[in-house]
Amino acid sequence: MKEIVQDGNPALREAAKEVPADLFNTPELKKILQEMEESLDAAKHGVALAAPQVAIPYRIFIVRYDRMVQENTEEEKTPDIGIFINPEIVKTSRKKTSIPEGCLSVDGVYGTTERFERATVKAQDIEGNWFTRGGGGILAQAYQHEIDHLNGILFIDHAEDLEQHES
Ligand code: NI
Repeated sequence: MKEIVQDGNPALREAAKEVPADLFNTPELKKILQEMEESLDAAKHGVALAAPQVAIPYRIFIVRYDRMVQENTEEEKTPDIGIFINPEIVKTSRKKTSIPEGCLSVDGVYGTTERFERATVKAQDIEGNWFTRGGGGILAQAYQHEIDHLNGILFIDHAEDLEQHES
């Protein structure tokens, strides 16, 4: 399984490349997505992962919708995965909100960030078809956080009140 790289690794600071047209519908792209899904699955508190976090320099992120639901259960959930390839934010709410944030690549560090309350992303699926999906709350936050990763930006670059927690 691919390890999630940590702050200080240059892979997190490079702008990721567009996934080229000829990579869609290939075993290579399927393998990349499978590796990302495995790494995110193993990070029990993770709700999303960008490809550079497993040192894959492509513009891809995945989310776990099943982990975005707040439930008082320790039960293992059935993965419900969203795949976003070559994503772009095409619309946001006017309003931003202050929210707590962390990152699987900045282990144990939490802070407060300013994020748009709602965002709409345009992206490609594994076959290369374009779709748009809107979201609020934690999903909107994930869109913004993960697209930052694709541009070499970490939340600690702009977060306030950073704190180290035991992890
Ligand atoms: Ni992150």
